[in-house]
Order: sequence, then C-alpha cells, then structure tokens
Amino acid sequence: MSKNTTARNVFRNSFTRREFIAAGATLASAALVGQSGRNSLANDRHRPRFHLMPPSAWMNDPNGPLYWKGRYHLFYQYSPVISIAGPKYWGHAVSTDLVRWKNLGIALAPTPGGPDKNGCWSGSAVIANGVPTIVYTGATWSAQSESAEREKGLVPERQMVAFAADPNDENLTNWTKIVQNPVLAAPPDQMRVVGWRDPALWKEDDTWYMVIGSGEIGKGGMALLYTSRDLKHWEYLHPLAVAKLDPSLDASRPWNSMWECPDFFFLQGKPILLVAQGNAYLTGTHSGHRFEQQSGGKIDYGSAAYAQKTMEDAKGSRIWWAWIHEKRSVDAQATAGWAGVMSLPKLLTRLPDGMLGVEPVPELTILRRGDRRVPDQRIEPNGYKRRLS
Ligand code: FRU
Repeated sequence: MSKNTTARNVFRNSFTRREFIAAGATLASAALVGQSGRNSLANDRHRPRFHLMPPSAWMNDPNGPLYWKGRYHLFYQYSPVISIAGPKYWGHAVSTDLVRWKNLGIALAPTPGGPDKNGCWSGSAVIANGVPTIVYTGATWSAQSESAEREKGLVPERQMVAFAADPNDENLTNWTKIVQNPVLAAPPDQMRVVGWRDPALWKEDDTWYMVIGSGEIGKGGMALLYTSRDLKHWEYLHPLAVAKLDPSLDASRPWNSMWECPDFFFLQGKPILLVAQGNAYLTGTHSGHRFEQQSGGKIDYGSAAYAQKTMEDAKGSRIWWAWIHEKRSVDAQATAGWAGVMSLPKLLTRLPDGMLGVEPVPELTILRRGDRRVPDQRIEPNGYKRRLS
C-alpha cells in the first residue's frame, strides 16, 4: 500500500482536511482531466452508474441538498484537480426522483481576489423569502499556505451567502454572491479555533439559526451557534453543542479537535445533531438553544462515508447523503480520471427507543426492476471546463 493510500485511509477515520494537508498531501500528485481522459472515462467499467458523480475529476462533500418546485438539487464539492487539496467549486445536479441525476455544471466558483478566492467550501441551501439561498464557507488561503497560517492562530474561513438569480428557473442554474460578503469574517473573539466552516441552517418562526463546525485544541469539536433575521447580519450566541470527548482519546491530538460538517434538525420533534467525524449522530435535549447530548450512534458503519448532510424530501422525510471517498491509490485515481462518488440517499427515521433508523429511500427500488437503465450521467460533451472561470 502506498504512503498516500495509507494517509487517505487514516484521514477519513480520524483526520480533518487540514491535518491531511499538513500530513503531506500536495498538489504534486494531482491530475487534470483532459480530452484523452474523457475518452478513457467513457470506457471505464469500474465507474459507478447509479451514484451521482461529476463528469470527471474530483468530488467530495454533499452540499446544500434542497427540494424546490418538484426537483431535488444536490450540490457537491467539486475540483477539476484530483486531490483533496484542489480548489473547490460547488458542482450541481438535479433530479425529480432522487435516483436519476443530471449534472448541470458549476453553481459556485471562487471569485478571484474575493473572500472565497481559494475555494467555495461546504455549506447549506435554504429558502429565504421564497428565494433559494446558499450559505457556505469561503476559503481565503491556498491549501499550501493554510497550515502555516493556522499555526499563527489565523483561520482561512469566511462565511458567505449567494442566492438563486432566477428562482423561477427550474434548474436554478445561476447563483449571485451578495455584496455584503463575507457575512461573517472571523470566529468569536477569544476563541482559538482550529477550524470554522460548513454552516448548517434552520428556521424558528422568523429567526434563522446557523451552526458552524469548529473546535478548540484540548476541548474537542463544537457546533457554534449564530442567529440572524435576514441571513446577512449574524450574531454569535454560544456553542450549540460541545463534544464529550472519549477520555481514552488524547484531547491534545489535533484530530480530536474539531467537528466538520455539523447538521442539526428535528425528527418527530426531537433534536438530532450529526457531525462528519465517525458519521456520528447525537440525540439529546434542546433547551435555550443548547443541545445536551444523551445518546447517539453511527449512521454509516463503513469507513468510506464522510461529510454527511441531510435534507427534507417532498414528503417532509429526512434524507441523508454522504461523500464516499476513495480507497484506491492516488495514482489509480489519476489514471482513472475520477475520484469520489456520492452515497445513495438514505431515509432517517426515529425508532421507539429514540435511536435512528437508517434505510435506503424507497425511490431506489426502481433500480431493482427489470429495466435498470438510468440515463447516463457520466460524461457531458463539454465537461465542466467551460464554466470553471
Ligand atoms: C470535509 C471538508 C469540509 C470543508 C470541505 C472542503 O470533507 O474538509 O470541512 O468545507 O471538506 O472541501
């Protein structure tokens, strides 16, 4: 097994993105997919057919899943470079049934010189005043300089907002970043956080709440809680939840120090918090906007799922997505011309004992019928190149 493969496998069990980069993953092993790459993609019999994936190159986290006017929109971290450290865009796919997806291209791209100039990282989509709206993390530094900056106590993350330029466009193809960006430029004063990213939102009456994945060395993961009336002006309240560290773990180790991709929602009136690390879900109480963990478990027991994210479907059921990351060597990914796929969607329910039930969504049964053909979403004539700038 190559050194890189080992690092990648360890990464999804315990490392955050930052530590992986610090561990030595560089753009040196990255590959750009060109015309010849697209031809080999078409002949690649190992390329999945039922799982959503970009036309070529790199996918990681599911972002901003949203049901809007009869269509499911699923965005994802996309990079034209096959590397965890590549520049991140929001790829965008649409479906009417959660099974057959059409890739639409790039929804969000880094703005040169802007607060997201080095990446549009993970986030969420909500409907605000009838307008689909994305809240995401902008990365201001390149992967190469990120670790050094963090050592100085600085964070590269900024929180950003974009809205659908035409909410009546059923494909929601065009997104506009608001002029007030970044809507949050720094973590709370006095906090020495190891990361500050991946906003997740919900609404109570007229007020928005948002958690941001974070953590402090020695204290562990935190979901920091913010509130707003308009998604532009945000006030920090307090941590919604703080990790209860396993005492057998050394809390000073960086990989026990933050939660990525928190997701918070109510299932049959009961609060549930998800975090990327370990595909964990936490059950508990929610009072005064503070979540107290009581119990919990794992949504996915495989070691390849990561960065879980949920949405409500057309019926109001809670649907789960995750990034299925690679077990192939970096060289094998580069040769294949693609890396990473989206999980199949799963339905989350609350069981009588308060724990979560997890099963594939019923829509997937169409794949079991005699006619298993799904439209080929593998290759688009122009790939994504045309929309990268
Ligand atoms: C999780 C993650 C997120 C970040 C994104 C960047 O895999 O590290 O925390 O927003 O990936 O691609």
